Amino acid sequence: MAKVVLIYGSTTDNTAMLSEQVAAGLEQGQANVTVKNVTEASVDELVKYDAIVFGCSTWGEGDLQDDFVDFYDAMDGVSLDGKKAAVFGPGDKEDYPDSFCVAVDILEEALKEHGAELVAEGFKVDGEVEPAFEDAKEWGLKVAKAL
Ligand SMILES: Cc1cc2nc3c(=O)[nH]c(=O)nc-3n(C[C@H](O)[C@H](O)[C@H](O)COP(=O)(O)O)c2cc1C
Repeated sequence: MAKVVLIYGSTTDNTAMLSEQVAAGLEQGQANVTVKNVTEASVDELVKYDAIVFGCSTWGEGDLQDDFVDFYDAMDGVSLDGKKAAVFGPGDKEDYPDSFCVAVDILEEALKEHGAELVAEGFKVDGEVEPAFEDAKEWGLKVAKAL
C-alpha cells in the first residue's frame, strides 16, 4: 500500500474541502493517506512517504496561498528523488484569467526540480468547488492507480 501525504494550503477552506474528496479517491485506490494542513507539515517529513500530493489555491495574481510560501521556501535543496507526486488547486478563471491556478504550476515545477515524478496532470478547479467534488475524487483515484 503506497504511503501518500496530502498537504494543502487553504485560506477560505475551498482547497481543504477538495482535499477531503481527493483523499477519499486516493483511499478508494488503496493508498494509505495522511492529510495535513501545510501549517502543520514540515518538509523534513516528506521522505517518509512514497508519494506527495499538494493542494494549493492561487492568491494575489499568481501567488501561492499564503501558508504555503514558507513550506515552498523550505523545499530549497531537498531531494525528492524517487517520489511520485501530483498537484491540485482551485482558482478563478473569470477574475484571474492570466493567473488561473498558477499555484498548481508553481508547485509542479518545484516538485520536478527536486526530483519527484508527476504521475497525473494538475487538477485545476474553476470557481465553486462543490460541483467539482466528484471530479476531485476521481482525480484522487487516478493518482492512486498511477502509484
Ligand atoms: C484577492 C484574491 C486573489 C486571487 N487571485 C487568484 C489568482 O491569481 N488566480 C486564480 O486562479 N484565482 C485567484 N483567486 C481565487 C482563489 O484562488 C479561489 O477563491 C480559491 O477557491 C480559494 O481557495 P482557498 O479557500 O482554498 O484558499 C483569488 C481570490 C482572491 C479573493
